[in-house]
Amino acid sequence: MQILVTGGAGYIGSHTCVELIKAGYQVVVVDNLCNSKISVLDRVATITGTSLPFIQIDLRDRESLEQVFSEYQFDAVIHFAGLKAVGESVAEPLRYYDNNVEGSLVLFQVMAAHGVKNLVFSSSATVYGDPATVPILEDFPLAATNPYGRSKLMIEEMLRDVATSDPAWCIALLRYFNPAGAHESGLIGEDPNDIPNNLFPYVAQVASGRRELLSVYGDDYPTIDGTGVRDYIHVVDLAIGHVKTLVRLLSKEAGVMAYNLGTGCGSSVLQMIQAFEQASGRRIPYRIVARRPGDIAVCFADASLAQRELNWRAERSIEQMCTDSWRWQAMSEDRFSFA
Ligand code: NAD
Ligand code: WQD
Repeated sequence: MQILVTGGAGYIGSHTCVELIKAGYQVVVVDNLCNSKISVLDRVATITGTSLPFIQIDLRDRESLEQVFSEYQFDAVIHFAGLKAVGESVAEPLRYYDNNVEGSLVLFQVMAAHGVKNLVFSSSATVYGDPATVPILEDFPLAATNPYGRSKLMIEEMLRDVATSDPAWCIALLRYFNPAGAHESGLIGEDPNDIPNNLFPYVAQVASGRRELLSVYGDDYPTIDGTGVRDYIHVVDLAIGHVKTLVRLLSKEAGVMAYNLGTGCGSSVLQMIQAFEQASGRRIPYRIVARRPGDIAVCFADASLAQRELNWRAERSIEQMCTDSWRWQAMSEDRFSFA
């Protein structure tokens, strides 16, 4: 079975390539490397013992994408490629709509033209906006609150329309909660180009001494300790979720399905800091600052649909996420002192 992975050099994509190869799939990666490095794919090859074909293209480059689809016979596409920084999307909405929506549109058109109609799409828990209650179920109202989230919603809607118009499409919308951690080898993990926006990579960089202090955005939320609560999920569990989804898709379950990929448990920012301190043996200096605009108090999944229909559930603990994230951080930061 041949699978095209768009954005396969990125954080979640690279871990998914590892799990796909382990499960016996042949993987081809396309990525424009706007937020990743080609060396990641060498590390995927080291982990799996299999090198994978890579074509550096932007999804919006229709001609080049057509060539890839002419060269390979894909059974399915897993579509990770996209920009993902919420704040950046507020500042540069047109860039986000162009990259995420236009890139996806071109991909789906080329897929349709080549008769490739099995698709797994990287959506996000952000499509639920600020949910009225938790845990969040897949049929909760959808209401994104920023251009990044709206780009995900638009793509979801585009795909629902596509499936309605042509019942040959089998589409899974995977709504990830908060991916964290790294591969246990320490060879691949999250490697943000700029100052991290997300909690986990920021904490890891503070632990390593690369950054001085973590700003904790608010301690006056109605939560266990006043800080924001999220559903952190190990990136390897997430990657395995894609393999399980493919199994279901390729058994010809037609139409569109949406699945929450989360653990079903929430952890606060202070709980995460404590867990990371324990795993790394480092102190994480922090200070409480004002709430970050747009943040919600609590977000965690009801992931029972994925368990029932995909036979998938997250198995790795917060401790494992912290240990693996720290190993990755320590191994990848040779330009910093760990004294
Ligand atoms: P990432 O930035 O590490 O990976 C995305 C990859 O896509 C990068 O390698 C980038 O170079 C590539 N890319 C971007 N635009 C492209 C284009 N036009 N053409 C070709 N390649 C392009 O991000 P990630 O964390 O691995 O996220 C993967 C997907 O999952 C994204 O769609 C993201 O929106 C979604 N997602 C991520 C999170 C998260 O917190 N990491 C949560 C929910 C959903
Ligand atoms: C987690 C918690 C912050 C950084 C975002 C996107 C979402 C999805 C996942 C793509 C919150 C707090 C954070 C910091 C902090 N991505 N925090 N100090 O906001 O839940 O979700 O990433 O789809 O769309 O919105 O994740 O990691 O940024 O924040 O106190 O320096 O950590 O306030 O409570 P978030 P996050």
